[in-house]
Amino acid sequence: MPTKSLHDTHHITYETLLAGNQKFIEKSLALDPEYFEKLANGQNPPVLWIGCADSRVPANQITNTQPGEIFVHRNIANMVIHTDMNMLSVLDYAVNVLQVRHVIVTGHYGCGGVIAAMSNKEYGLIDNWLRHIKDVYRIHAEELTAIEDEQKRVDRLVELNVVENVYNLCKTSIVQNAWAKGQSLSVHGWVYSIKTGIITDMKVSTQDNEKMEKVFRFQQ
Ligand code: CO
Repeated sequence: MPTKSLHDTHHITYETLLAGNQKFIEKSLALDPEYFEKLANGQNPPVLWIGCADSRVPANQITNTQPGEIFVHRNIANMVIHTDMNMLSVLDYAVNVLQVRHVIVTGHYGCGGVIAAMSNKEYGLIDNWLRHIKDVYRIHAEELTAIEDEQKRVDRLVELNVVENVYNLCKTSIVQNAWAKGQSLSVHGWVYSIKTGIITDMKVSTQDNEKMEKVFRFQQ
C-alpha cells in the first residue's frame, strides 16, 4: 500500500535527489559491477522518443527500459516544430549518427499544454508555443467541434496532436533523406494514459513518404 499521495512531493528536496543518486548507484552495481563502465563505452539506442515534458510521463519508466536504450527529446506537448533547432538537432543526431530505427511521438491524455491550447486564456510567452496546437485544432475543427463532451474533445485533440506531429516528422528533410537512402526508419504515434498507465498506438506508423501530400515530398 502506498503511504504517500503521489501529489505530495514535499519530501523531495535538493538533498533527497543526491541521496537518491547514491541509491541508484548501489542498485545498479548490485545488478552488475561493471554497469557504469559498460554504459560509459557509448550509446546505441534503437529508439528516439519525442515526448511531453510532463513529470508523469518519463520515457524509460513507462516502457520498462534502461539507461542507454532510448534517446529522448521532451518539450511541452510533444511537438515537432520544423523551426525548432533543438528538436531538429536531436532528430538529426538520432537518425544520422545513432541510426535509430524508430522515432516515436508520445502524447498523453490530460496534457496541460493541450488543455491550455483549447482555452481562450492568455498565458504569456508560452502562447507562442501553444499556437501550434491551436493550428492542429484548426485542421481538425470539424471533427473536434462536433464532440460535445469537453473531456472527450480534449482527449481527441491529444490524439490528433500526436498524429499531426508524426506527419511533421515525416515532412522533415532529415526523415525523408533517410528513407531516400534506404535507411530502415519507422515513425510512430502513441498516446499514454496517466490514469491507467496504458500506451495506445495511434496506428499511423510509416516507413516511407508514399501517403504524404505531394507538396511536402522532396524530389530524390
Ligand atoms: Co503534456
